[in-house]
Amino acid sequence: MNPHLEKLHPYPFEKLRELFAGVTPNPELAPISLGIGEPKHPTPPFIEKALMHAVAGLSNYPSTVGGEPLRAAIAGWLERRYGVPAIDPATMVLPVNGSREALFAIAHCVIDASDASRPDALVMCPNPFYQIYEGAAYLAGATPYFVNSDPARNFACDYSAVPIEVWERVQLLYVCSPGNPTGAVLDLDDWRELFALADRHDFVIAADECYSEIYTTSMPPLGALEAAHQLGRSGGSGSDNRPYANLVVFSSLSKRSNVPGMRSGFVAGDPQVLKKFLLYRTYSGGAMSPTVQAASIAAWGDETHVHDNRTLYREKFNLITPILREVMDVELPDAGFYLWADVRKTGLSDTDFARRLYAEYNVTVLPGSYLARDAHGTNPGRNRIRMALVAGVDEGLEAANRIVQFCQSLRAES
Ligand SMILES: Cc1ncc(COP(=O)(O)O)c(C=O)c1O
Repeated sequence: MNPHLEKLHPYPFEKLRELFAGVTPNPELAPISLGIGEPKHPTPPFIEKALMHAVAGLSNYPSTVGGEPLRAAIAGWLERRYGVPAIDPATMVLPVNGSREALFAIAHCVIDASDASRPDALVMCPNPFYQIYEGAAYLAGATPYFVNSDPARNFACDYSAVPIEVWERVQLLYVCSPGNPTGAVLDLDDWRELFALADRHDFVIAADECYSEIYTTSMPPLGALEAAHQLGRSGGSGSDNRPYANLVVFSSLSKRSNVPGMRSGFVAGDPQVLKKFLLYRTYSGGAMSPTVQAASIAAWGDETHVHDNRTLYREKFNLITPILREVMDVELPDAGFYLWADVRKTGLSDTDFARRLYAEYNVTVLPGSYLARDAHGTNPGRNRIRMALVAGVDEGLEAANRIVQFCQSLRAES
């Protein structure tokens, strides 16, 4: 068997199952889960209809590159959303079956673990992070290198603290903006720094933007392609003057349009990287079903449902965050659908907090340390919990009130 498989960590939800083993949740209260980051708002009916009307397409094999109408719909969305020009649907856009599989696969396309001139390949990841990045790094024969997010800087990662010897080994950098679980969004200066580093040390940036459409700020989060355009990279840059050099962006309909079950996303950016990724995917079998393509075209073409979806999340965040702030350190995130709270003042560790909350109030939250690794002397998820505000407003409010009662009972205990 592939020995790298031994390096894979159990998924956070497996760790949670272990943490809860033998615990009987309070039977007087209905279970509420803020644990899993899975959208729960209903799928818009027009997307379901588009899917049903396209079943006739099943009699053909789809091409890996995807149909021209879908690639054009995605390029059009990118141009409208980010104000970027020059997205060539033929060479700069590739449909994928949800961003997860593509975020995983890109490492295998990009990493050259046998490059004698750059031994001991590194894949740089934020910490905390989406666990797929780490598994992708290991299975591509590389090692993840974690850069801790800093709560004092609104959870930004301090890339300037990374030693030059480390940068020289980096072949791929994962960026998650808006971040899961922190909600942090990179600004133009962050991107300027990262593009300069990518050019200097010749690595690819994989920008994970699957939460880009869920935000609490008045301005939508800056996208990586948008930043590249504003920094003069959309027309051509890098040693061979190609557009969006060294940058590939991953996005998805799962959260934007409440269709996690449809498995539809895209990769866009540097045509040179995408050409190789298409070759890779031709072998790995990453073609999207024509039925899903048809529904995806409908979804990327509509913003009304995206606006409504965002309004619903905002309503929840605005109601729930102030309630929780009474008992823990928690701020409204810039974007995403998570609250990333510091529970130190309750006197419990993140794991004890999650286990006791489940036992006594039947509410599931995810311990922050399960979403991060020990790096540079600390685990940046320790003493934090992640709460996914994915369920309805009433359920979210009920969960928040139970959490407050739980924290007050802890105070009374001490
Ligand atoms: C940060 C991040 N990236 C990517 C994904 C994958 O989403 P999908 O494969 O549905 O596009 C998720 C899903 O939870 C996520 O949290």
